[in-house]
Parts: sequence; structure tokens; C-alpha cells
Amino acid sequence: CEARKVALLGAAGGIGQPLALLLKMNKFVTELALYDIANVVGVAADLSHCNTPVKVAGYTGPEELGACLKGADLIVIPAGVPRKPGMTRDDLFNTNAGIVKALVEAVAKYAPNAVLEIITNPVNSTVPIAAETLKAAGVYDPKRLIGVTSLDIVRANTFVSEAKGLDMKDVDVPVIGGHAGSTILPLLSQTTPPVTFTEAEKKAMTDKIANAGTVVVEAKAGKGSATLSMAYAAARMAESTLLGLNGEPNIYECAFVQSDVVADCPYFATKVLLGPNGVSKVMGLGELDAFEQAALAAMLPQLKGEIQKGIDFVKNPP
Ligand code: APR
Repeated sequence: CEARKVALLGAAGGIGQPLALLLKMNKFVTELALYDIANVVGVAADLSHCNTPVKVAGYTGPEELGACLKGADLIVIPAGVPRKPGMTRDDLFNTNAGIVKALVEAVAKYAPNAVLEIITNPVNSTVPIAAETLKAAGVYDPKRLIGVTSLDIVRANTFVSEAKGLDMKDVDVPVIGGHAGSTILPLLSQTTPPVTFTEAEKKAMTDKIANAGTVVVEAKAGKGSATLSMAYAAARMAESTLLGLNGEPNIYECAFVQSDVVADCPYFATKVLLGPNGVSKVMGLGELDAFEQAALAAMLPQLKGEIQKGIDFVKNPP
């Protein structure tokens, strides 16, 4: 297993801290570089006392960002502001768009060959922002840019296992589309092991999975959005990515990536194969049932709009 440096940008936040802990416990990580604009030196000192072999260092302020990024194999970005009740992920756009663009400019400069995973919402827009920023710097490789949607899959797996009394570790529900309420579509018809739902149950389960983020935002009542489950899901995605980089075959995850599986929708989440350079193959939709076909058609205008908003933020700034 090769030496793997992971850089985490926004490492002192609600997602960043538990994700840093999970990465400190990951056997495929050798070096963990934690960056934030606040509090990160303390987080790094704290984490460095855990007796696992992962070397931890904290970096703060734009002048230390280059050192954090240099030599990174994988960069994960949860930096930004979280959603509050009443806000949609799209409301976060203005603040988070600027944060992601600035961080990705540094990625282009200091670690252009790293795999880049974006958690910062709205992912439907921040991934196109990252792509356009990398393109402008002449270093864009679609295989190495991934929008992290694994929390949607984690939630779908949990809720379907609970509903059907199945062992959590056996259940896999692909989730396609984007990452935001009505653009999230679990493919219950492609669940492993196969499960059956009535039409009404299918609709209720689909809505439960799509609205799960909002349930957390409301339960936290102004204190932010999903952090622990998001960190768990991002750690799973990071581990799968590192396994792929290490040459492990047959590593599949759903992720929001550049794609031509849906006409005129340049980014889309489907199952992807992860390999030595990031995404080796976009697997496509498989066979959708009538309910899923209708739901896909219904989501596309919103998804395409959010993608275009991200592209325009970089290409045609106001
Ligand atoms: N560079 C680095 N870090 C930054 C920057 C920046 N320019 N701007 C903000 N941060 C840091 C903050 O200092 C904070 O530590 O990002 C962290 C964000 O943490 P929280 O405010 O706790 O937010 P969190 O719940 O972690 O969510 C972050 O992920 O899922 C998304 O919607 C969520 O977009 C939000 C993001």
C-alpha cells in the first residue's frame, strides 16, 4: 500500500472534525493535512495524540494553504457555511461558491494531479464551479473531480434496511441525480438485495431519503446541517477512492461527476468505478422503472439550472 497524503480543507468545522478523526483511523492514509481559516492548529494538536500511524499537521490562513496541498493524493473540501432552517442548499450558493472557487484555484496551483472531492453545498453548483476553475487553470481532468453524494446512499441503505428488516451491511441502494432534496433519486428498483415496495411505499421512501437532510437541519434548529453522518459518508467515499488509487479492482460508489448519461446534463450522480486515476468509468443509469423515469424527468430542470448557475459563476461572473 502506497503512502497517501490526504488534505482536508475546512477541517475545523462540524463535518471537518469528525471526518479528520475517521481519516486518522484509516489504514490507507499516511499523512493528514488539515486546513481551515480558524481553530485548526488546536484540532491538529488534539488529533495528533491518537496513537495511529497517520501523521497529522494543521495549516491556517491562505499563506499556509500551498504547504497543506503540496503532495496530496486526495483533497476533500467541506469548507463553507452550513444550511440553517428555511434555507435550501441553493441559498448557500453565494457564500460557498466564492470559498470553493478560491480553494480550487489553490488546488490547481499546488496539487493539480490530486483527486478532488467536494462536500461543500450546493454540490450541484460547487462541482461545476470547481470544474470551471480547474479548466481556467488548464488542469481539469474529469476523472479527478468528484461531488460527494455518499450521504444519500448511506441514508437510503439505512432507511431501506430498517423498513425491510435487513442487515444494514448487506443493503445497497444506488442514488442518482444531484445532491439536494428534489434532485436526489434513490433507485429502489436496483436495490441489492432486491426489495419490493407498493407504489405508495416507493413514493414515501423516496421522499424520506430526499428530505433527510432537511430533517436534520430542522432538528438542529439553527445550529447547522448534517455533520456526523456526512463525515461518516465522506470517510467511506475517501476510503473507496484510496482503494481505487491503490489499484484495488471493483470499487464502486455513487458520485456526482462529469457525465454524458443524461442528455444536456453535464454532471450527474450515478454509480462510478474508482481506479488508479480517480473515476475510471461512469456506469450509467441501468434500467429505471416507470416511477423512477418520471422522477428523473421531473428533477432535470432544477438540476440543470443549478449546474448552469455554477458554470456561470466562473465563466460569466456578474
Ligand atoms: N477556507 C477554509 N475553511 C473555511 C473557509 C475557507 N475560505 N471558509 C470557512 N471555512 C471553514 C470554517 O472555518 C469552518 O471550520 O469551514 C468550516 C465549516 O464548518 P461548519 O461551519 O461547522 O459547517 P459544516 O456543518 O461542516 O458544513 C460545511 O458542508 O455539507 C456542507 O452544507 C454544508 O456547505 C456546508 C459545508
